[in-house]
Amino acid sequence: MEIPEIANFIVYSNQLSRRHFMNKQDSEKLRTTFNDIYGADGDQPVLFFAPGRVNLIGEHTDYNGGFVFPCAIQYGTYLLVRKNYGNLIRLASVNEPEKTVLPVENPFSKQPVRWFNYPIGVFDQFNKKGIGITGMDLLFYGDIPANAGLSSSASIEMVTAFALNHLLNGGLEIQALVKMAQKAEHEFAGVQCGIMDQFAVGMGKANHAVFLNCSNLEFKQVPVPLSGHKLVITNTNKPRSLADSKYNERVAECQLAVAFLSDKFSITKLGDLGFPQFFKAQDCIPDEVIRRRARHVISENQRVLASVSSLMKNDLSQFGTLMNVSHDSLRDNYEVTGFELDTLVEEARKVRGVLGSRMTGAGFGGCTVSLVKESSIPAFMEKVGTGYKATTGLTADFYIAEIGDGVRKVES
Ligand code: GLA
Repeated sequence: MEIPEIANFIVYSNQLSRRHFMNKQDSEKLRTTFNDIYGADGDQPVLFFAPGRVNLIGEHTDYNGGFVFPCAIQYGTYLLVRKNYGNLIRLASVNEPEKTVLPVENPFSKQPVRWFNYPIGVFDQFNKKGIGITGMDLLFYGDIPANAGLSSSASIEMVTAFALNHLLNGGLEIQALVKMAQKAEHEFAGVQCGIMDQFAVGMGKANHAVFLNCSNLEFKQVPVPLSGHKLVITNTNKPRSLADSKYNERVAECQLAVAFLSDKFSITKLGDLGFPQFFKAQDCIPDEVIRRRARHVISENQRVLASVSSLMKNDLSQFGTLMNVSHDSLRDNYEVTGFELDTLVEEARKVRGVLGSRMTGAGFGGCTVSLVKESSIPAFMEKVGTGYKATTGLTADFYIAEIGDGVRKVES
């Protein structure tokens, strides 16, 4: 079975992408595609959605037991799914050419095609919880750029987890699904990620950011008063080769920093240490690179706290400054930015009406997020797009983020 013509589903362009939410016509198109692939007989498939996320500040702090401050966005992954009452799981995506069929009774294993691992990793988690899996037909459609630092993978994992919980009457709370999705990423995608992405996708709320303490998962949804400004996401469109292994390398470097610091302090994670304590004791880390890694994480934690209080006081300009400092630390101390992200940020900061600009997500390519006065957005796109192209030869894509709700059922 071939996946039918799909190009007209894709909405990205190097212009400003339109505000997207699937309307009735789009969802019917998706249902027609589903029927073309799997046949129209059987249960009516149910439509679910999980957003991607943009992290406002608090980068590379989550796996260190620190604070993060992400929000869910309007772009993400749709999933049409139904039970097929057989013993086969069938997977297809509008965005990807590959599809697969797996027997339910076999233990699930890592797949050679990368994107299969996100849903299959989640099936595996349900298996491990003893929630009996039955045959299912699944069709995914993402309107979020993949592998660009906006959590397209967490969005696939969470939409799958939420849908399985619904169809199999799993009775699990969203936070349990969040943890299962994170495990799926560790075990099937091989990335030792923190919990931020899955948590933001699960617990996001319109017009709010999720202020999360990753050491105990206490969180608060904090209003983001943008008053005349927008969050503009800009994609470097730089291919992110080796990003996963560099990410895992940073995780290991932070563990090393903890090992040095724990001679002096009884800590198990960098997030356990305040900046003044670290500042006085930092020389107990003999390696200069490891010391800088720790400096980023511990100072970034403070910036999250300062950002939350700035927003609570409606001080957008202070928040913008903190975004800038965060990027500079990710560039100089954590070294996860690179030429393309740094160029985008430099160009953005030259434009009037930009309060702050920083990379978002893991880095090594991917996207920046900028806080831009609404009336300056056309000039922002023009100037940043032109400057970026002239310096890097690449074309940037722009997305205006709307802060949306977390994972949900869209239609029965
Ligand atoms: C990726 C990971 C997250 C987090 C960020 C960096 O998005 O999946 O857990 O570590 O990078 O802040």
